Amino acid sequence: MKPWWVWSVTTLALLLPIAQASAQADALQVRSWAAACATCHGTAGVAQPGMPSLAGMPRDTLTRRLLDYKAGRQPATLMHQLARAYSDAQIEQIAAYFAALKPE
Ligand code: HEC
Repeated sequence: MKPWWVWSVTTLALLLPIAQASAQADALQVRSWAAACATCHGTAGVAQPGMPSLAGMPRDTLTRRLLDYKAGRQPATLMHQLARAYSDAQIEQIAAYFAALKPE
């Protein structure tokens, strides 16, 4: 009979790669949500003149703007429609993604 902690250590060793793989899947998922914004806000969040760039915008600002669009608090031509397609949790992840990109 092995001591109890052997099983804990073994279980942890088995579960760790699963946790890492799912973190990678999350990162890919967020990147693909953000890719939907590239059509208008530019590749990697750097837009053509006339359209706001998202890269490097503070995370809180991005989150607030998107939640305001979603709630209808911020008048817009189309962002109020787009923002409604995402859950609040998705909006926070998308905001973190763009905040971490380099503005150019
Ligand atoms: C079809 C074009 C289009 C797409 C796709 C699009 N946007 Fe926008 N976005 C706009 C326009 C146009 C505005 C200006 C507000 C308005 O009129 O809707 C804007 C404004 C914004 C703003 C406010 C910027 C500022 O400086 O005030 C944020 C934040 C934003 N968009 C984030 C996003 C995110 C995140 C996505 C992807 C989930 C996205 N947008 C997808 C066209 C688009």
